[in-house]
Amino acid sequence: MKIVHTIQDLKAAVRAFKSEGKQVGLVPTMGALHEGHASLIRRSVAENGATVVSDFVNPTQFNDKKDLEKYPHTLEADSQLVASIGADILFAPEVSEMYPEPDTRHFSYPPTDEVMEGAFRPGHFNGVCQIVSKLFMIVEPDRAYFGEKDFQQIAVIKAMVADQKYPLEIVPCPIVREKDGLALSSRNALLNDDERKIALNISRTLFASVYFSKDHTLEETRQYVIDNINSVDGLEVQYYEIVDGNSLQSLKNWEDSDYVVGCVTVFCGSIPVRLIDNVKYKG
Ligand code: PAJ
Repeated sequence: MKIVHTIQDLKAAVRAFKSEGKQVGLVPTMGALHEGHASLIRRSVAENGATVVSDFVNPTQFNDKKDLEKYPHTLEADSQLVASIGADILFAPEVSEMYPEPDTRHFSYPPTDEVMEGAFRPGHFNGVCQIVSKLFMIVEPDRAYFGEKDFQQIAVIKAMVADQKYPLEIVPCPIVREKDGLALSSRNALLNDDERKIALNISRTLFASVYFSKDHTLEETRQYVIDNINSVDGLEVQYYEIVDGNSLQSLKNWEDSDYVVGCVTVFCGSIPVRLIDNVKYKG
């Protein structure tokens, strides 16, 4: 595996793969890699002749400066993991390489980017689209891999791909969890032992709500999740929405869609750490 830091070197490496007739898979990440990221990289390695993993903490998608400052950086460990999986390129640019000038492009894909994360993190998805579109234009991958942990992100990126007519396939990959159910996240590294324990109530409540939903209305189920998580000291729900899995619009009744997903964001602990998770009810 080769680590490259410049767009020019990345383009040259990708050109070489393509001239050998290899298809190229892209796995965009912000580093601090864990098994969730590893699952995407493994899938890309299995499905493409060459795999590029990007490792870049993208400043334009952080609406909260403190969140950006405390985001973990672990390039050394990341490169070992990426190499061990068999990816070909780890792209780790400086901010000045990706943004030599401020990116003034504005991406807007209502309704997918207006609700939930879009409402609570203004500008977040615009920043995600800015960096992902740059990566798509530089690498021109055949496939790009994204995790369902960030369920809304996939919907927004699919909308961008349709709008910009990028000739590539978006491959959604299932959430990877710890054995006890906690969704893997780079932000979990910011939790102390006690916070780690209480955070478990998020996935437990989501799983329990799937059983609860069998004989309760959608609104009762929504309230069940909010009340159960909020009843735990140290946890506070920012939102819980039960939505159509494609449009991300909130639903009123179970019958209103064949694809139903519940998306939650919870503040955990005293700092606090913002954790997201989701669960599928239907589809
Ligand atoms: P990051 O949070 O590093 O995540 C990179 C990719 O890994 C995303 O597609 C995310 O959904 C996936 N991922 C994270 N945790 C996962 C888990 N437990 N199971 C499965 N997949 C998981 O998402 C971003 O970075 C950024 O917004 C990015 C797309 C790189 C743009 O900057």
